[in-house]
Amino acid sequence: MKQRVVSGMRPTGRLHIGHFHGVLENWIRIQDQLDCFFFVADWHSLTTEYADTAAIRDNIREMVLDWVAFGLDPEKSVIFRQSLVPHHAELNLILSMITPVSWLERCPTYKEMQENLDTKDLSTFGFLGYPVLMAADIILYKATRVPVGQDQLPHLEITREIARRFNHLYGQVFPEPAALLTETPKLLGLDGRKMSKSYNNSIYLSDTAEETGKKIKSMMTDPARIRRNDPGDPDVCVAFNLHRIYVPQEKRDEIIPACRNATIGCVECKKILAECLNERLAPFRAKRVELAKNPEFVDNLLQDGSARASKISDAVMTEVRSALKL
Ligand code: TRP
Ligand code: SF4
Repeated sequence: MKQRVVSGMRPTGRLHIGHFHGVLENWIRIQDQLDCFFFVADWHSLTTEYADTAAIRDNIREMVLDWVAFGLDPEKSVIFRQSLVPHHAELNLILSMITPVSWLERCPTYKEMQENLDTKDLSTFGFLGYPVLMAADIILYKATRVPVGQDQLPHLEITREIARRFNHLYGQVFPEPAALLTETPKLLGLDGRKMSKSYNNSIYLSDTAEETGKKIKSMMTDPARIRRNDPGDPDVCVAFNLHRIYVPQEKRDEIIPACRNATIGCVECKKILAECLNERLAPFRAKRVELAKNPEFVDNLLQDGSARASKISDAVMTEVRSALKL
């Protein structure tokens, strides 16, 4: 039997190229081999955004357009929205009954996020219960594999503990899902910090070729290379971390010595990068523009996918209620 895969993303809006080369490309790769369920974790975004929900609708639309334009295929994977499958909430409630509060308080992401997002009041029941909802998301489909980044491993460990506890109390229902660890290449943003929406230093999948060109023009290079005649070092050049992804090897092998002996200037060098990046993303961006022309595309796709997901989750919930003698 094929492994069953479940993974979700909180709807944070348009994705940048770092998301693409991390999570999304990985999802796209496995959808050909495994039985995949990918969903918009909109209830999870409420755990931190409950006070201002105005952006969620748009964020969902933009994110799903990126997913599909860049290669996630609704024919191959079940693509759905968490809040359209209320079984997630029912299982979350049941799992909350058997989850010790101490497991949640001990979770390293809990205190970390509370400290990092100190402008928001995260002393809520829902935020503490984030990993319980995530466990429900996963075991609701009896997933056996969960593609996640390193940062999500503590959550997955709690999922496994909750599944084990459920099986122990009520009889064997759930497999214990294992992580499919996603190697996320750390992409640097325009300013040399990690690429992140909140730093305003990102190249978005949906940016036009022109916007991308402008951004790359402003991108940091080797900080020691101040004048055109100064020799540079690609190993410490911020832009060059993108050359490694987008510029073909042979071309890079020309650029490296040319940078070191100052026979190429940064302006020209970054122009090459912009051309290669734009060329690589062009077909996906064109598809995105096409898909976005239909204002109902995302809603329809999520309705469809959620109906497919519900068929599976419905059967599992019947089993759960029966195991609990409800
Ligand atoms: N917590 C995940 C993240 O922030 C999103 C998520 C919610 C998820 N439910 C999930 C990921 C279930 C995998 C499986 O990235
Ligand atoms: Fe970076 Fe290219 Fe400038 Fe060298 S020439 S510092 S690799 S942008």
